[in-house]
Amino acid sequence: MLRRVLAPPRGPPALPPRPVSRSAADQHPPDLARERSKTVASFYNQPAIDAAAEKKSARYLHHELPVRIAHRIKGFRSLPFIIGCNPTILHVHKLYIRAFQKLSEFPPIQGGSDEARYCALVRQLLDDHKDVVTLLAEGLRESRRHIQDEGLLRLFLDKTLTSRLGIRMLASHHLALHEDKPDFVGIICTRLSPKKIIEKWVDFSRRLCEHQYGNAPRVRVNGHVAARFPFIPMPLDYILPELLKNAMRATMESHLDTPYNVPDIVVTIANNDIDIVIRISDRGGGIPHELLDKVTQYHFSTAEASAQDPRLGGALGQLLALSNRGQAGPMHGFGFGLPTSRAYAEYLGGSLCLQSLQGVGTDVYLRLRHIDGKAESFRI
Ligand SMILES: Nc1ncnc2c1ncn2[C@@H]1O[C@H](COP(=O)(O)OP(=O)(O)OP(=O)(O)O)[C@@H](O)[C@H]1O
Ligand SMILES: [Mg+2]
Repeated sequence: MLRRVLAPPRGPPALPPRPVSRSAADQHPPDLARERSKTVASFYNQPAIDAAAEKKSARYLHHELPVRIAHRIKGFRSLPFIIGCNPTILHVHKLYIRAFQKLSEFPPIQGGSDEARYCALVRQLLDDHKDVVTLLAEGLRESRRHIQDEGLLRLFLDKTLTSRLGIRMLASHHLALHEDKPDFVGIICTRLSPKKIIEKWVDFSRRLCEHQYGNAPRVRVNGHVAARFPFIPMPLDYILPELLKNAMRATMESHLDTPYNVPDIVVTIANNDIDIVIRISDRGGGIPHELLDKVTQYHFSTAEASAQDPRLGGALGQLLALSNRGQAGPMHGFGFGLPTSRAYAEYLGGSLCLQSLQGVGTDVYLRLRHIDGKAESFRI
């Protein structure tokens, strides 16, 4: 089941063949004995099986990545001229062209050394492209005002960002197949605990929040806290910090007069046969009616309004917070957290919905489809 999501679509399985049934054994005992001993030998010949699986996975990527990247390049080419000329957008466009050239020039993967060199290339490209989301956000922030058609940009960003996520998942999966990490097969965690991963991102977001506001709301996690299932942590690693940062910021900014006495955030986990639902409830005042449609648009942010608030130290205070933020990234800023999280969730067969109790707080519902669930599977 798990293999359906990430593995190459066709070809022989990497596991040893199943034992022949007893009735067949009765018919051809010597053949069967030989067959059985071969099966046992190949079971213990795990390195050979791993190597074959890795080569097959590399060959799949070798074919698949240039095609996917070519589609992204077409996306950049079809942008309005004025946007395509923006230096930052042009830089990202060139990154994709360079990746296409390097990947499509790579000779066919024959032996183990080809595979090792291919891994090194993939690792290098993953690193070269790590800042692409920020670069796109920056490049489009200035240039988007020149065009009328908002829908066009949304389509471009949804497609570029989700396709990038897919490419990174496939590439990281291949690289991770070489690692021997307990409870992991490639990037699939075989017994992921939603509670643990939520807590990891709560700690991260609280540290950022304390840095910016001097305090951070506590987070209570309830529901199916003991659940464990096979899942890919990567999308959660992106989406959870974005949602938690938003909830914490709203909580702190709606309680500026009592920053050391702020309401808790409550995260509820609901696990079922089809999907995993994570609800994040804050008491941060909610999202005003007139903004509800806008908050999931790329580049919509109320960060500037906060920057003007003298209780938050005004523009200078925000600037200082921004310059102190180091490697951890900002609490808020580009207006990319919600639209990107929603695009990722939908790409993976799930959804992201917001319910605002205006004046009280916000509930965000993140749904992600199980990779081995009862519902129809999805492909990356
Ligand atoms: N839980 C929430 N409560 C109240 N308002 C929210 C909440 N989550 C998001 N918002 C509003 O939606 C806007 C857009 O959120 P989004 O996460 O997309 O961007 P951002 O937080 O401003 O910047 P970024 O996430 O890119 O750093 C926020 O600026 C904020 O005004
Ligand atoms: Mg945000």
